[in-house]
Amino acid sequence: FFFAPLAMVMTPDSMDSKTILHGTTAANWDLIQSKGLQKSADTDFVHFVKLNQAAERGIIVGLQQSPEVLIYVDMAKAVGDGLVFNERPCAGEQTEVVSASVIPPVYFTKAVETATKKQIWTAPMQSQEKIKEMKLYSNARVKYTLHKTMDIAFEKGEDLKPEDMLPVDHLHYLGTECMDDFFNRYAPHLKEQGRATRALDIGSGAGGPARYMATKYQFTVTGIEYLDEFTKIFRLMNRLLTIPTSILRVLQGDFLKMDATDVCSTGKYQVFTSQLAMLHISDKATLFQRCAECLADDGVFMIEDYHKRSGTEISAEDKELLARDVAVPEGEAMTEEQWREELGAHGLVVDEFVDMTDRWSLFIWERCEAFFASAEALTAEWGPEYVAELGHFYTSVARLYHHMDNAGDRRQKFPWVCRMTKWSAADEAKPQNLGGCRIFGRKKLQ
Ligand SMILES: C[S@@+](CC[C@H](N)C(=O)[O-])C[C@H]1O[C@@H](n2cnc3c(N)ncnc32)[C@H](O)[C@@H]1O
Repeated sequence: FFFAPLAMVMTPDSMDSKTILHGTTAANWDLIQSKGLQKSADTDFVHFVKLNQAAERGIIVGLQQSPEVLIYVDMAKAVGDGLVFNERPCAGEQTEVVSASVIPPVYFTKAVETATKKQIWTAPMQSQEKIKEMKLYSNARVKYTLHKTMDIAFEKGEDLKPEDMLPVDHLHYLGTECMDDFFNRYAPHLKEQGRATRALDIGSGAGGPARYMATKYQFTVTGIEYLDEFTKIFRLMNRLLTIPTSILRVLQGDFLKMDATDVCSTGKYQVFTSQLAMLHISDKATLFQRCAECLADDGVFMIEDYHKRSGTEISAEDKELLARDVAVPEGEAMTEEQWREELGAHGLVVDEFVDMTDRWSLFIWERCEAFFASAEALTAEWGPEYVAELGHFYTSVARLYHHMDNAGDRRQKFPWVCRMTKWSAADEAKPQNLGGCRIFGRKKLQ
């Protein structure tokens, strides 16, 4: 290692990257996984580099050879808990970070085998608090959703219908389109069964998609939702709409940790759906294993989620945005090939993978523009905290989905979004490596 004097002690404010990487051998990993990272007898510090693309390929300053295993460490969390890290200058483009502390495994987010790029270990699901940090699910948003629900219910009175809740109960893009698309595609398969069709909706939020399946397509639906508040809102909406739990119910919990027999207490499901929830879950192997366990043989599924364009990498800046503002672990997304492979490993065969990126970008920019255009009225009605938080979230997502085909004069069409995202014409040259996808598939007959 190049021994320069120790520089800055890392503080939450001085941290431009919250993830750091440590390289090690496969033999050491077993011990590190149980005991944590500690300096060896002949070094004063544990060495890391800040996350960057070279480091992820195993090129790490100070190491002659690519390490066999890369350990990702959440430095922000460790610093928040009082562990000390120093940044020190070194030659080249990487920034070295060192620590004299022992770094317990609770700060590791994942371990990757460098040669195959396979995750060999992932941290257990992040806590409810981590997801709650996401402004889309903040207390201000919950308060807004509750008040708005009551306003809608009061205004509609006896005529209240499930679709009246659409402005508050769908937390994904393009409304009910994906559900219709799904149903139409598999209609011959699903139509005959009606109420006998049991559907599972994973990460159901306030229940919009689950309610749509139960009321429009007459399925018997179970939603799974992690956050208490959204589970309560889901149930409240059902009450207001007098939808019985025998038709639509929601179970609260982390889908990965729930007992499959509880989830399947009514029998296995002919359908599972999930919209913009899987992106929060890093342990895809357990997730897909669970999905496969819950789905009957020949059952069908639809997933809407993020993906990474094949052969590309998500930029460090986008990873940071994804991790910080969208609660995407490590800011990573799978490519189409990885989605197919990981689902396929659990007997879930992809019938079609639809790239939604261009349509989502337009939706996201229009949503953000409409929000800021009415910010004044929204502030007066719902308060500055709600507007600041949701505005921040919408802006981050607009930055992530920046590319638009045939956008015309962006500044004229989206003056607010351009201002909030600090958009410039030069941004058009930035590749859109993050994308959106709609995946249709079925469980292979055993
Ligand atoms: C963007 S929202 C989408 C909600 C709903 N699918 C919709 O489209 O309206 C994602 C939801 O997934 C939930 N979620 C994330 N991880 C989960 C997990 N492991 N188990 C259950 N729910 C989860 C979050 O709490 C959040 O409410």
